[in-house]
Amino acid sequence: MAEIGRISEVAGYLWEKGWAERNGGNISVNVTDLLSEEERGMPALCDPVPLQEAVTALCGHVFFVTGTGKRMRYVCRDAFCNGSLIRISPDGTSFEIIATQLIPPTSELPSHLMMHNYLRASGKKNRVVLHTHPTDLIGLTHCKPFLDSERITRLLWSMIPECRIIVPRGIGIVPYEIPGTLELARATIKQLEKHDVVFWEKHGILAVGDDIIECFDAIDTLSKSAQIFFSARMAGYEPEGMTDRQLDDLVTAFNL
Ligand code: 13P
Ligand code: ZN
Repeated sequence: MAEIGRISEVAGYLWEKGWAERNGGNISVNVTDLLSEEERGMPALCDPVPLQEAVTALCGHVFFVTGTGKRMRYVCRDAFCNGSLIRISPDGTSFEIIATQLIPPTSELPSHLMMHNYLRASGKKNRVVLHTHPTDLIGLTHCKPFLDSERITRLLWSMIPECRIIVPRGIGIVPYEIPGTLELARATIKQLEKHDVVFWEKHGILAVGDDIIECFDAIDTLSKSAQIFFSARMAGYEPEGMTDRQLDDLVTAFNL
């Protein structure tokens, strides 16, 4: 499946970028439409695993999900030794691993599935949830004034025109929650009403989209903006940033 090649490609970028220490980050992709009926019906490798919260918009859907504790630097070499295909039950209350090995999914599965469920139920086409640990962006979330959606969005947009264009819906903020919890999942879903990229305070970044390369690009562009900001500050000056007028002109020029 070509999609697995694209997942591996992005896993390699995450490692090369230094965003994936040890098992940092995880990926899930809805591959239902990319599989034949026969492939979707593959026999399960395990008993059904109950979900803490039902995902009724995903009944019967199949996802590639990276494994818990698995390293992105190895996902990029062999996705199926470091992740698995899971199938949601017909009533949306459990999942089974169906291929190719019995590799338990990421600890962030509640967040990933609840996000896919929310997006699907809202009629969106997003198939991808990408979570990663970019040093510069996480660094920003350690500064209280930046834990404000409007302020951080304005700051990062204003560093480089592409940021306004590539991340048009801006950044959502989720205050710190324990990784892998339903609380983290629920708080994230709220942010997805307005944003496709969410910062998890003192933890990491999450992007949703229809294409895994584009999810990576959005985070990469935000990271570039953060680096411009930090470089200027380290050189001893406050970066001027683009003006409101300059940012608004992009909306017209690029139909945002
Ligand atoms: P997993 O190894 O369970 O995917 O956890 C990594 C992580 O980044 C948790 O937020
Ligand atoms: Zn994480």
